[in-house]
Amino acid sequence: MPNVVIVGTQWGDEGKGKIVDFLTQHADIIVRFQGGPNAGHTVVVGEKQTILHQIPSGILQPGKKCVIGNGVVIDIETLMKEIEEVRSQGYFKDDTALLISENAHLIMPYHKKIDISREKMKGKDKLGTTGRGIGPAYEDKVGRSGIRVIDIFDDDLFRNKLEDNLKEKNFYLQNYLNEEAFNTEEIFQQFSKYRDKIKNYICNTFLFLHESLNENKRILFEGAQGTMLDVDHGTYPFVTSSNTISAQASIGSGIGPKHLDAIVGISKAYTTRVGAGPFPTEQDNDTGNYLRDKGAEYGATTGRPRRCGWFDLVTVRHSIQINSITHLALTKLDVLSRLKTIKVCTGYKYMDEVLSGFPTDFSVLEKCTPVYDEVEGWDEDISSITRLKDMPEAAKNYIEYIENATGIPVIMVSVGSRRNQIITIKDPFET
Ligand code: IMP
Repeated sequence: MPNVVIVGTQWGDEGKGKIVDFLTQHADIIVRFQGGPNAGHTVVVGEKQTILHQIPSGILQPGKKCVIGNGVVIDIETLMKEIEEVRSQGYFKDDTALLISENAHLIMPYHKKIDISREKMKGKDKLGTTGRGIGPAYEDKVGRSGIRVIDIFDDDLFRNKLEDNLKEKNFYLQNYLNEEAFNTEEIFQQFSKYRDKIKNYICNTFLFLHESLNENKRILFEGAQGTMLDVDHGTYPFVTSSNTISAQASIGSGIGPKHLDAIVGISKAYTTRVGAGPFPTEQDNDTGNYLRDKGAEYGATTGRPRRCGWFDLVTVRHSIQINSITHLALTKLDVLSRLKTIKVCTGYKYMDEVLSGFPTDFSVLEKCTPVYDEVEGWDEDISSITRLKDMPEAAKNYIEYIENATGIPVIMVSVGSRRNQIITIKDPFET
């Protein structure tokens, strides 16, 4: 299969960065198609850990082209820092490895301020955003007042757009959020400096990708966040502001859906969520603490402790349907070692009924209680196992249980954060 899409099947933080890094060896081009610096994709190479926020994880392997597609919202200031950081770690030596869509929208300083200030104002009702300005930037994109990468290269257009935006934003900031106003000239000057630094990366990525398809290049699409954070199909309003599902790989890059050959859903062997919102299998108890400690479940972008709970088949099945998932990759299976029994949620009980699908109605979801199956645990440390046949029987059974319950083959199992801590059952590029 030439082109593979990677998506998270839960609430993000499924370990997509590691799987993308692994699959990058088989790909020519890696594309980010949505989200922005709210993502934190962790890749460990040798002793070195790198957290990528905006640059595709493929940058850690030489000879690959990494594309930030039109569907991404870009914070240039943090992107510059990220580029420097990645370079200081010895990666990204070839300037042509990064291509940024000229159509992508920019996260402006006022977007970040509005995001943080709104959350502060909401107090206990806050969404728990990452504070990176994601929501306000997408609002402007849809509201047709957003500033795109290409716009900052035209002085008059940029200044006019900035002025128009600041009329509204400053009024809102000062009169509603009690914040200080932004100055057009200051932002203009700041962005004039940035544009010189990024100009070499900017291009029509749509054309590049289509030319690459004609040359039979293999494309890996790197999703960010997870399906349950999708603005249409997730636990709205406790979601991010982009579509996180596989269809967005087309929209956020300009490659039509017929070119998406395999859709690999990444599922953590248990479930985590960061930020507010419903989480039916959450274990706000010793089990949750155990999973958090053992799995080092702290946000890669914000450092916040993640909420932890059991594997939830209702959400994963929902994701499988919405994304047309063809294969699953199971991550962090090693974290479950030493648990006597492992619970898996098979359905949600609402009143006297067990719901087969994921409820859209928030008030129903809040009243649902998970129905659990219990699966036998294993004692062995599995973090150095590289072949499925060497796995303890109970661990193999857990994988098989998930395959049978979802009807989707598990093709990769990750048992630790390092590159080599992975069991490959099938390569999605070869299926
Ligand atoms: P925003 O994307 O910063 O607006 O945050 C909206 C919600 O999505 C919050 O609950 C965040 O914690 C969550 N979120 C955003 N990005 C990620 C991610 O990469 N991993 C996990 N949760 C995320």
